Amino acid sequence: MPHNINLNRINKSRIFDVDFDNIGFGKVFSDHMFIADFDGQHWSNPSILPYGNFSLSPATSALHYGQSIFEGMKAFRGENEVFLFRPSDNLKRLNISGERMVMPAFPEDLFMVALLQLIDLDRAWIPPADKGTLYIRPYMFATDDFIGVKPSEKYRFAIFTCPVGPYYAKPLKVKVEEHFSRSAPGGVGFTKCSGNYAGAMYPTKIAQSEGFDQVLWTDPLTHTYVEETGTTNFFAVFHDHIATPALSDTLLSGLTRDSSIQVLRHLGYRVEERKISVHELFEANNNGTLKELFISGTAATLINIETLAYRDQIINLVTENSQNVTQIIKSKLDDIRTGKSENFQNWRVTVPSVIQ
Ligand SMILES: Cc1ncc(COP(=O)(O)O)c(C=O)c1O
Repeated sequence: MPHNINLNRINKSRIFDVDFDNIGFGKVFSDHMFIADFDGQHWSNPSILPYGNFSLSPATSALHYGQSIFEGMKAFRGENEVFLFRPSDNLKRLNISGERMVMPAFPEDLFMVALLQLIDLDRAWIPPADKGTLYIRPYMFATDDFIGVKPSEKYRFAIFTCPVGPYYAKPLKVKVEEHFSRSAPGGVGFTKCSGNYAGAMYPTKIAQSEGFDQVLWTDPLTHTYVEETGTTNFFAVFHDHIATPALSDTLLSGLTRDSSIQVLRHLGYRVEERKISVHELFEANNNGTLKELFISGTAATLINIETLAYRDQIINLVTENSQNVTQIIKSKLDDIRTGKSENFQNWRVTVPSVIQ
């Protein structure tokens, strides 16, 4: 189905105010955004507009009952081109979240047309490869102005982008969380619904006040098996294999997790998707078979955990060495994303240069 997207360009770009050397994460927004509205039947009025505020009713359903989902993806600057990484898989996951939250699916053809146009239009906002990437935030929220708990009929879908530097600047200190839970069997932990992140803020704030960067969630029933951190999946590198928690309805199926598993297996590593107990990690650390811990996510990229704390026990791992698997897999993925290596599994999508 052909999609005509209304285009309303800014009069004057803000790009010249941007300092790519001090960009931070999530504070600077590119010139344009994409929006489309669901009227109960169809997605209508797809438009690219200057980045700006929405006008919302105080009764907007998403604000009260939380039908709000999002995605996180990135555009990368290659030598002469701009690339996306597995964009259709982000939309698939958005639609999985949407199904669980009784929200309408967003069509893949419209998503790709809108995304490619938006990134093409704001390609100047993608930082130089050595300084960062363009973070892309697609999201959808309920827009009925109605008080009463029921699925909204109307929704807004939007995409905006922000040039970003690193999310984490150095290896992490992480606390194993065994009191609070992020999700529950039968719940919504496998979705990227906004409420998952709101509920995680209090335990994370406590961990941060204790000097940690993040929490490592454990299974909600027994708190004995690790699951994921607040913003990433989790991997443990043992002397003879690599393990990551198996997917379930209590954790997010990360695209960086899946990409890492596929590339690692392609490189000949044995990767197991299975239960990993906290006990196993500490025992392996004690007997010298635990080599590395790392997290994986689009925003966070791949980064080592240098300290893992559980009650009064601590794992301290040296992360600076030439055998570091995290660095090997990170640079393989970076090469795929930025066009420096072959297009493994066709994950890399070139953004055509069309808009003048
Ligand atoms: C809770 C959670 N787990 C894992 C991930 C990693 O997912 P991905 O690799 O698709 O960014 C994210 C980031 O989106 C996340 O928020």
